[in-house]
Amino acid sequence: MTALDIDFVRAQFPAFAEPSLQNQAFFENAGGSYACRQVIDRLTRFYTQRKVQPYAPYKASRLGGGEMDEARARLAALMGVATEELSFGPSTTQNTYVLAQAFRKFMKPGEAIIVTNQDHEANTGPWRRLAEEGIEIREWQIDPQTGHLDVAQLESLLDENVRLVCFPHCSNVVGEINPVPEITALAHAAGAFVCVDGVSYAPHGLPNVDDLGADIYLFSAYKTYGPHQGIMVIRKALGALLPNQAHYFNADTLYKRFTPAGPDHAQVAASAGMADYFEALAVQHGHAGTAAETGAFVHDLMRQHEITLLQPLLDAVKDRNDVRLLGPATAETRAPTVAIALNRPAEPVAAELSEYGIMAGGGDFYAVRALSAMGIDPNEGVLRMSFTHYTSQAEVAKLIEALDRVL
Ligand SMILES: Cc1ncc(COP(=O)(O)O)c(C=O)c1O
Repeated sequence: MTALDIDFVRAQFPAFAEPSLQNQAFFENAGGSYACRQVIDRLTRFYTQRKVQPYAPYKASRLGGGEMDEARARLAALMGVATEELSFGPSTTQNTYVLAQAFRKFMKPGEAIIVTNQDHEANTGPWRRLAEEGIEIREWQIDPQTGHLDVAQLESLLDENVRLVCFPHCSNVVGEINPVPEITALAHAAGAFVCVDGVSYAPHGLPNVDDLGADIYLFSAYKTYGPHQGIMVIRKALGALLPNQAHYFNADTLYKRFTPAGPDHAQVAASAGMADYFEALAVQHGHAGTAAETGAFVHDLMRQHEITLLQPLLDAVKDRNDVRLLGPATAETRAPTVAIALNRPAEPVAAELSEYGIMAGGGDFYAVRALSAMGIDPNEGVLRMSFTHYTSQAEVAKLIEALDRVL
């Protein structure tokens, strides 16, 4: 496979040319990524030329509505699903909240949901609250040393009462990539649906949701080079079963069924810029093919670059006895989201790193359950260094050097 053209990539992100951000290496991408120029350009165009109520017959409105439809169609195609299976909501947290309301009505008391303690709170708290409705909540627990989710343990939790299994594609602090197709196959065999939080995975290459087999796949556009939106894939079969959460007259439109509020028109439209960017990357690297093939090509291109850069960072922290690396030390099995526990509050160390031109964060990152389960005080938190395919080798080297100074 061809190597990622990092100069081309960085030229697509205005932040890298922004004077106020010079000489600062960005390592808090799991919090929110830089936006690509394609998204920024579309957002500006929408606000200047198309900022009217969409789907009316006049030109500005037709163009605005058309651009919103285009965003859904092109992102869905890149992810191997039908256009109506992809919808936008204000955030992933809000999307799971609405889905939990739908499952509240769909499920009967005595039925069960499996949640993990590896998830960000967004894909666990709203489900756990359904205990108040008489739904049984079963917790699939991580290994307290490694943070690993063992599939064998899930098997022992599954039975005919389980309707739903909620888990992350990868955790935002452990970083390990969970075997989604294997987990999904087990859940389906037991008669349960799955809800996968892909927020920490999607920025490293959009997955093909059809191949994964997931019934629900969630991620956040603002961490995936786009505007501040949550994106949700709900497959048709499940979407038709769950009770409508939108206005009654929108019940037959799958992409409206689980998004009760009017969407942010400009941001939905600007999300088409994410597809522009992924397609531009494919063209730049000599690839041509269907949308799903383009999605897979760009995914592998990004992952390959990230894996090459990630291993030296893991090697630099894994054997130090003053820090504890969460998750695996092998780059192939994880996302480039590297959290380390320090036995002291992490936030001041992130502040020290900023003096060396490193932008990173310290805290619990809303993964309070995961940190607690691993014996880490959430008030001290972890130092998290997260990067993406647009990060350069020089920036990782700079981070490793800065870590040497502050640890
Ligand atoms: C793994 C994970 N899931 C869910 C969320 C919540 O996403 P949103 O901010 O879109 O609600 C986050 C945000 O940090 C996250 O990291």
